[in-house]
Amino acid sequence: MEIKLKKLWESEFERALEVRVVLAVAEKPVSRMSLTKTELETLHALRAPSRQRSWLLGRNALKKLLSSFGMGEETSLLSFPHPHFSLTHVGDRAIAVGSRDHRLAGIGIDLEMDRLPPMKSARFFLSREEQKWLSKVKNGSQPMELLRLWTIKEAAYKANPCNQGTRLSQYIVMESPGRASGTILFPQSSGLLARYHSLKVRKGFLSLALAMENRGNKAR
Ligand SMILES: CC(C)(COP(=O)(O)OP(=O)(O)OC[C@H]1O[C@@H](n2cnc3c(N)ncnc32)[C@H](O)[C@@H]1OP(=O)(O)O)[C@@H](O)C(=O)NCCC(=O)NCCS
Repeated sequence: MEIKLKKLWESEFERALEVRVVLAVAEKPVSRMSLTKTELETLHALRAPSRQRSWLLGRNALKKLLSSFGMGEETSLLSFPHPHFSLTHVGDRAIAVGSRDHRLAGIGIDLEMDRLPPMKSARFFLSREEQKWLSKVKNGSQPMELLRLWTIKEAAYKANPCNQGTRLSQYIVMESPGRASGTILFPQSSGLLARYHSLKVRKGFLSLALAMENRGNKAR
């Protein structure tokens, strides 16, 4: 992938979310030779070759990201959800994101390309209000809008530091779901919310969500 495109995505996310983020993109798996002992153990615990491949792709992106932060290349030190790092992989591409911003309680990234969720899946991950909004979107645009909302919710889920046991339908888009940027309410009343921005990429979307303190909530 072109460096220019990666820089463009970084600056679009920064402009929309007012937080500096760094992306690292991998288009091939990291060589097994460059894995640490702990990484090799994790790899061997993954049985399916397709899962091993996506994991290796992800480690390539994470290693690039960690070394750009001067943090070495040991990816086993990271566990997800993480306040400053997140990862997504689709097909032959993995994208890792990192930010040192001290205001972050969590960060989540999600990429979807070349596949659309079935329309009937909407009721499993959209709230009633979001489904109502989607039903008013022009018919031909509904599948892509559904995909965009899917990536936004997956990014918000990954950004939630307490996401265990939560469902995507519990992550509520607060403004009109048609907007490229906005806020998402988390399932728990944790005092956090997610700010998100979603970019149109070739045949899909790349969404980033940042979990931050809900200032509005605190003031009340
Ligand atoms: C875990 C989950 C977010 C992964 O998303 P995905 O689109 O399948 O896959 P992606 O490639 O985008 O992301 C995978 C990466 O997310 C990260 N990840 C895994 N679990 C995570 C979690 N609980 N929180 C944050 N990040 C997580 C990992 O880095 C993983 O890559 P790795 O295993 O190689 O390290 C997803 O499977 C999930 O559980 N979604 C929400 C639950 C839900 O409501 N599902 C039903 C929808 S109807």
